[in-house]
Amino acid sequence: MKIHIVGGGAIGLLHAGLLARAGQEVTVWTRTDKQAERLQAEGVRLETLDGVVRDIAVDSHSLSSLQAGPIGEEHSAAWIILTVKQSHIDESLLHRLRRLSSGTTAILCLQNGIGHMEKLAAALPDALLYAGVTSVGARRLDDARHVRHTGDGPLWFGAYSEDKKDDYLQNLLLKILKTAGFRAGLSNEMKDMIYQKLLINAVINPLTAIYDTTNGELPQHPTRLRLMRSLYEETSAILSADGMKPGGDGWQLVMQVCAATAANVSSMLSDVRAGRQTEIDWINGGVSGLAVRLGIASPLNDAVTALVKQLH
Ligand code: PAF
Repeated sequence: MKIHIVGGGAIGLLHAGLLARAGQEVTVWTRTDKQAERLQAEGVRLETLDGVVRDIAVDSHSLSSLQAGPIGEEHSAAWIILTVKQSHIDESLLHRLRRLSSGTTAILCLQNGIGHMEKLAAALPDALLYAGVTSVGARRLDDARHVRHTGDGPLWFGAYSEDKKDDYLQNLLLKILKTAGFRAGLSNEMKDMIYQKLLINAVINPLTAIYDTTNGELPQHPTRLRLMRSLYEETSAILSADGMKPGGDGWQLVMQVCAATAANVSSMLSDVRAGRQTEIDWINGGVSGLAVRLGIASPLNDAVTALVKQLH
């Protein structure tokens, strides 16, 4: 099956490498010409969980090459997997996605945080949009093509809108993802899954960035632990008021994620360290936005949003 991976970061390269290794026809769309040229010439360098390193051939182009002219038949794909950060979903990217997709292309969106699905639905009214939540771990080890698979979490996906889905395509992707080695599953509860992940990100990401600490060190100090707990309570109350289902023990889950990813630098801290724009507006800023809509106060989410914005 033809699959476009939009975004050449760690998650994009991991999906490209594993899917191409499983025999799928993968094209990676990158932000820079330089990265596309390297990928086209040398392939994805994939380091699997068991430490095996292999170069895997993929097709690759830069998103800017989509600017003008007709899209050739060779670019029509059944699925687009959108792996760019929230901050990259702007008018220019939406324009390119419109050019890359046709009425029959399905788009799987793997962003952290909230807000992107509404934006994509408004910009691509005919697209078959799928929301995804992934807990796979990946790290890019150079500026172009070397990716390490660091963690084997589940990948859930489901149609954003019940009346815009394609059973055949979604089952095909599910099968292909599983064959490629992902622990993939289809879900009708994507809003809930997105909120559960948002709750974890809203506690760990801003505080690791503010305190410049790894996920494992974050709860090790009593002051930080208290702040984590307060941010958790506030966020959980807001998401529950917006329909998040009462599930297992969310706080325990936050602590488990800190333990399971103890040595990791969160994505927000690594953005801050690299001087990149963070996803704070779509994580804690997104929670504050929901609170405003619901008429609930969100002082801690407002505060961490303002603090993290000062860090980059
Ligand atoms: O954004 C991240 O870094 C990850 O989603 C998480 C769960 C916080 C672990 O590092």
